[in-house]
Amino acid sequence: MSSRIAVLVSGGGSNLQAVFNAIDAGAIRGEVCLVLSSAEKAYALQRARARGVPALALARRRFASPAECDTARHQALVSAAPDLIVLAGYLGIVPQETVAAFPGRILNIHPALLPSFGGPGMHGIAVHRAVLAAGCRVSGASVHFVDETVDTGPIVLQGSVPVYENDTPESLAERVLGVEHRILPKAVALFCEGRLSVQGRKATIM
Ligand code: GRF
Repeated sequence: MSSRIAVLVSGGGSNLQAVFNAIDAGAIRGEVCLVLSSAEKAYALQRARARGVPALALARRRFASPAECDTARHQALVSAAPDLIVLAGYLGIVPQETVAAFPGRILNIHPALLPSFGGPGMHGIAVHRAVLAAGCRVSGASVHFVDETVDTGPIVLQGSVPVYENDTPESLAERVLGVEHRILPKAVALFCEGRLSVQGRKATIM
């Protein structure tokens, strides 16, 4: 039985591509049924269209209010009837109605070792800048279930990388991205195999 996977994106879509590549390699028992972008020019949309996957941009500026944008995004997801929703470089906040409609079925990739360096404002290059400013010796990436607050859901997988003396936010971001491309497809595969369970704040791999 193949799982239906909806992927939310905002940028280049390298994490989305990592999921596509894992599907092609037979590592994920599923298929992407929708790519939904918060940005109209996201290259991730091109990646989806190149593969014949339905790709939709619902940008906030096209709506009269944030609530209307959230409703449109929620309805697009519900219509796609996914088994799993994956946030892959997605800069938006998932509407509460979506989190409630898909309990235990939304995964996010975050470019740091949660719970450190997570929460509102902690996305993209800002995360790596904060890691360097804190003098950390290691960093990494986390895949977690999405719950009602930002970057706080049960952690599924993490991967770490060393931080070097001469690192810049950009060089660290590139090293962490390599980990993201490894652990996100792995977490999606585990979900599609029914091997993830959540008890309270803890996710377990069966
Ligand atoms: C990257 O900064 C990554 O760390 C974060 O989202 C950004 C873009 O990812 N998760 P992608 O190339 O659009 O997947």
